[in-house]
Amino acid sequence: MAFLIINPGKKVAAWEKRIRTLAPEADIRVWPDVGNPNDVEFVLTWNHPRGELKKYSRLKCIASMGAGVDHILRDPNLPRDIPVTRLVDPSMAQSMSEYVVTNVLNYCRHMHIYWENQSQGRWAPRIQRQIRNECVGIMGLGQLGAFTASRLNRMGFPVVGWRRTPQKLDGIDTFFGEAQMDTFLNQVTILVCMLPLTPHTQGILNHDTFNKLQPGSFVINVARGEHLVETDLLEALETDQLAGACLDVFRKEPLPPDHPFWHHPKIRVTPHISSLTNPAAVVPQIVENYRRMIAGQPLLNVIDIEQGY
Ligand code: GLV
Repeated sequence: MAFLIINPGKKVAAWEKRIRTLAPEADIRVWPDVGNPNDVEFVLTWNHPRGELKKYSRLKCIASMGAGVDHILRDPNLPRDIPVTRLVDPSMAQSMSEYVVTNVLNYCRHMHIYWENQSQGRWAPRIQRQIRNECVGIMGLGQLGAFTASRLNRMGFPVVGWRRTPQKLDGIDTFFGEAQMDTFLNQVTILVCMLPLTPHTQGILNHDTFNKLQPGSFVINVARGEHLVETDLLEALETDQLAGACLDVFRKEPLPPDHPFWHHPKIRVTPHISSLTNPAAVVPQIVENYRRMIAGQPLLNVIDIEQGY
């Protein structure tokens, strides 16, 4: 029975060390040194090569190295009868919310303009945007989105949320489904995308969505690059329907050096760091699932493959 780590092109030493410490009994292997594929029962993965997982005939659990599972589900040859698990970690919610709060406040206080002015020795005060006048719209109210929505709300922002299915959240007006999407968007001045990537949410940050926001809105994407239609963003910035955007995730990562986002004056780019996974924080839940799998017990944080999250 083997525990295989697959993370092509990335160093996994910190993960491996932590797993060995917490599960010294495990036969840990690191792809591509798989050995006999029939030994593999547990896979911990990020971006496995398509078709790879179906080589493991005794596989019993596919564990994501992150909160998202789209990198697993996009494999057309995924064995669909094997449970897929995701990471659920309060420190990820904490750090992602810090990223969103930082960028919402930078926007309200015009910080990027001051940094640009500083580089030119220019002293030019501006009136700040008032928190109470900025309606933050969070798309996606899972563990990460709900935590961020509550934090912004406690800071004094009016916050509204949108998700696929109904859910109540203290202090947050929540809208759901296609039918309530426009009512949600119409009041928003700062839109934050925290949705899982599924066939339904792909390309959701598009021309129509931007046009339903208040004119001159700001967009933050911390979910996946595929949520955004890049040419629609550039057009909305050009026409001033959007005042700016802060992007942490991209269709192609690393963002190619010649990509127009790098030098766009209204776009802030960060390298997919809004919530970096800390192996020390999450390996205990991975090892817990490994032991549950061996004991034939129900696994933690299993996703619904049909829904995609
Ligand atoms: C990061 O993007 C994750 O899914 O954890």
